[in-house]
Amino acid sequence: MKYSALVSVLAAGSVVAQERPPRTTFPDCVDGSLASNAICDQSASPAARASALIGLMNTEEKLQNLVSKGKGAPRIGLPDYNWWSEALHGVAYAPGIRYADTAPFNSSTVFPMPVLMAAAFDDELLEEIATVIGIEARAWGNYGYAGIDYWTPNVNTFKDPRWGRGSETPGEDALRAQRYAASMVRGLEGDKPERRVIATCKHYAGNDFENWNGVTRHDFDAQISLQDLSEYYLAPFQQCTRDSKAGSIMCAYNAVNGVPSCANEYLIQTILRDHWNWTDSNNYITSDCEAVLDVSLNHHYAETNAEGTAVCFKAGMDLSCEYEGSSDIPGAWDQGLLPIETVDRALQRLYEGLVRAGYFDGSDSEYAALGWEDVNTPHAQELALQAAIEGIVMLKNDDTLPLELSEGSKIALIGFWADDASTLSGGYSGRAPFLRTPAYAARGLGLDVSVATGPVLQNNSASDNWTTNALEAAEKSDFILYFGGQDTSAAGETLDRYSLAWPEAQLTLLEKLSELGKPLVVVQMGDQLDDTPLLENDGINGILWASWPGQDGGTAVLDLITGAKSPSGRLPVTQYPVNYTDVIPITDMNLRPTDEYPGRTYRWYPTPILPFGFGLHYTTFDISFANDSSTSHSIQDLVSTCNNTYPDTCAFPSLKVEITNTGEKTSDYVALAFLSGEYGPEPYPIKTLASYGRHRDIAPGEVAEIPLTWTLGNVARVDEEGNRVLYPGEYTVQLDEPVLATFQFELTGDPEVLDAWPAAPE
Ligand SMILES: *[C@@H]1O[C@H](CO)[C@@H](O)[C@H](O)[C@H]1NC(C)=O
Ligand SMILES: *[C@@H]1O[C@H](CO)[C@@H](O)[C@H](O)[C@H]1NC(C)=O
Ligand SMILES: *[C@@H]1O[C@H](CO)[C@@H](O)[C@H](O)[C@H]1NC(C)=O
Ligand SMILES: *[C@@H]1O[C@H](CO)[C@@H](O)[C@H](O)[C@H]1NC(C)=O
Ligand SMILES: *[C@@H]1O[C@H](CO)[C@@H](O)[C@H](O)[C@H]1NC(C)=O
Ligand SMILES: *[C@@H]1O[C@H](CO)[C@@H](O)[C@H](O)[C@H]1NC(C)=O
Ligand SMILES: *[C@@H]1O[C@H](CO)[C@@H](O)[C@H](O)[C@H]1NC(C)=O
Repeated sequence: MKYSALVSVLAAGSVVAQERPPRTTFPDCVDGSLASNAICDQSASPAARASALIGLMNTEEKLQNLVSKGKGAPRIGLPDYNWWSEALHGVAYAPGIRYADTAPFNSSTVFPMPVLMAAAFDDELLEEIATVIGIEARAWGNYGYAGIDYWTPNVNTFKDPRWGRGSETPGEDALRAQRYAASMVRGLEGDKPERRVIATCKHYAGNDFENWNGVTRHDFDAQISLQDLSEYYLAPFQQCTRDSKAGSIMCAYNAVNGVPSCANEYLIQTILRDHWNWTDSNNYITSDCEAVLDVSLNHHYAETNAEGTAVCFKAGMDLSCEYEGSSDIPGAWDQGLLPIETVDRALQRLYEGLVRAGYFDGSDSEYAALGWEDVNTPHAQELALQAAIEGIVMLKNDDTLPLELSEGSKIALIGFWADDASTLSGGYSGRAPFLRTPAYAARGLGLDVSVATGPVLQNNSASDNWTTNALEAAEKSDFILYFGGQDTSAAGETLDRYSLAWPEAQLTLLEKLSELGKPLVVVQMGDQLDDTPLLENDGINGILWASWPGQDGGTAVLDLITGAKSPSGRLPVTQYPVNYTDVIPITDMNLRPTDEYPGRTYRWYPTPILPFGFGLHYTTFDISFANDSSTSHSIQDLVSTCNNTYPDTCAFPSLKVEITNTGEKTSDYVALAFLSGEYGPEPYPIKTLASYGRHRDIAPGEVAEIPLTWTLGNVARVDEEGNRVLYPGEYTVQLDEPVLATFQFELTGDPEVLDAWPAAPE
């Protein structure tokens, strides 16, 4: 939409809206000097349009547009463009994003952190949320407050609970991460040929810690077996590129098997572009920010920064993200290390991506009309609340929850998250339109609230004052809510954790609170900790895990605590014991156990405190498979009737779960189906999430059906070379954690390779 058209729309609206600022950030295909160029010819192919633009650029102009702060080419009317915007759980602060001082572009909807959204196991909801995020993000771009390239989602598998950025991801399971990636990319980019915004799956590959014990993401060389790469670390990226056809990928800081990710031809060319056929000339790869410098400086993979820069572009990276300057593009050019064909290839991918997103099409763009009316809509606000309600997981309940509260009930809200709005959002957040804390929500319900908030105490020093205030609040109340955990968000993006224990000062206080004999519920914020002391203390009646619940997190927590809503989230991660950190260094990428090493994730680690998939309810369910056991399917029949290019994506015969709410409260239910059995390459049975689905609002007495769909690939296993194979054998499907129903089937015939994994170099 052009400026003049917009003004009339705005004038017609009832809200006094922000005027679009003078358009210096978008190209002018109408009156500007680009107008006569083929880039503006909407009847030409995107490839031809982009190449016409590049044809107008001189070398200097080309070289200055290979970095995130692209300078454009003012001489020909191409404005500067910042490729780096963020929208992890809503439009967020980033170098390419501005917030206005006044409405409407001064706030954006802040959803819960991805790990909590993933806990809902509700892909329909995720896609709705991603659509809202994509719409707000495009409105930001249309009004010149951002670009239309957003470097989200983060789809790295959360393999170690110490990772400081694990909450940005959908958890530790590969299937969950794949389906999260599919929902996010579809929602953000939309389902039309024109992309609403360009989504970037990151960080490719194996980036799952930051700074631990002297090793950092900038110098780490992740040693990953082909089996683990194919089955686990790369699986979400396969979804993003091969299956969801996302517009962009970010290569990681770390090296994989000796080669820095952004210079890694095996990862970028052999796997990503060739094997996954991610070959459209409008798809690009950006580096993580200042990762190019790491190639020479920290990985010592090149002698000079100029050489390192050239190696990355030649391997297939197309853009260097930097704060102030990290690559040496001029040096690489001057020394003849960077061929013009490589430069043009990168520019083609970048600008063709923008053409495909309608950046040059003004009011003719598919999404030109998205604007201020589409930001912070009532629908967006409802989804933010719903996501928190669906995601929050109940970890303990002795029947005290839901609390029987009524107007005027005296309730103490204790702990550093009780009434501190700054603790609700988590990493990569924007400025929310509002932030409702638990104390705010409790007051809104007319409860008689005493708040005792305090600092994050990792130990006992300076805790006396704090304890006194908390006990005072508790003593004059009839109910106690304690908000605690480790505040890992305070540690920032570059820190990982060393301990999975509850801070000692908090445990001491909780002990004292539990001796008061009043209903005491702990709301655990942040990441997972070893909850043993809380689970074993009978004076602690309930535990809810609320992670970083977003702008309406306080409302969600109170809705669950009062029983206005029912908890139904499931842990998307394992809760490990504190001794986990003694036996497993964060830098060990192996998933499978050895004699000394207990293995990682719910598939291998034997002694969790609370397992992946765990989550309690307010009601009871009767659950069974509607399928008859002892069916048998022929592998060769399944494969020969599959017409998809990639046979692992063909549907496997589906399962049907029948569920009756036998209790007294309406509740959602998440059906998790795990596969196990003695087949394939593993010497012992392992358990793998193979499908899941959610049914909302099952009323007492109601019988509901949950169809579970899955693919041949979800039933297959990955061998040591990385091939995905369908094996004959007896399979058991286990429903839920702990198991509530089982179903057996047999696969007959010979093993079939569904996806032959490319061999590694050497
Ligand atoms: C946005 O600006 C409006 C005034 O235009 C103001 O009322 C509101 O509080 C601001 N929101 C935030 C989150 O700053
Ligand atoms: C590879 O991708 C291209 C472009 O998207 C498409 O035309 C082609 O059919 C794909 N090839 C395979 C084998 O899927
Ligand atoms: C206790 O906490 C204080 C304040 O955060 C810190 O300075 C001190 O190092 C901590 N002591 C121990 C033993 O962890
Ligand atoms: C102790 O608590 C009182 C009352 O809440 C407060 O005024 C005082 O600043 C606190 N002192 C310290 C050292 O935190
Ligand atoms: C670690 O702790 C768990 C749970 O308390 C326990 O089952 C397990 O045996 C411990 N492992 C080691 C190696 O001590
Ligand atoms: C696969 O193709 C065959 C032959 O074209 C067709 O008969 C069959 O229905 C197709 N199968 C599926 C699952 O679409
Ligand atoms: C489940 O039952 C349906 C209906 O009878 C059947 O079509 C399907 O093949 C069964 N699923 C499996 C995995 O056997």
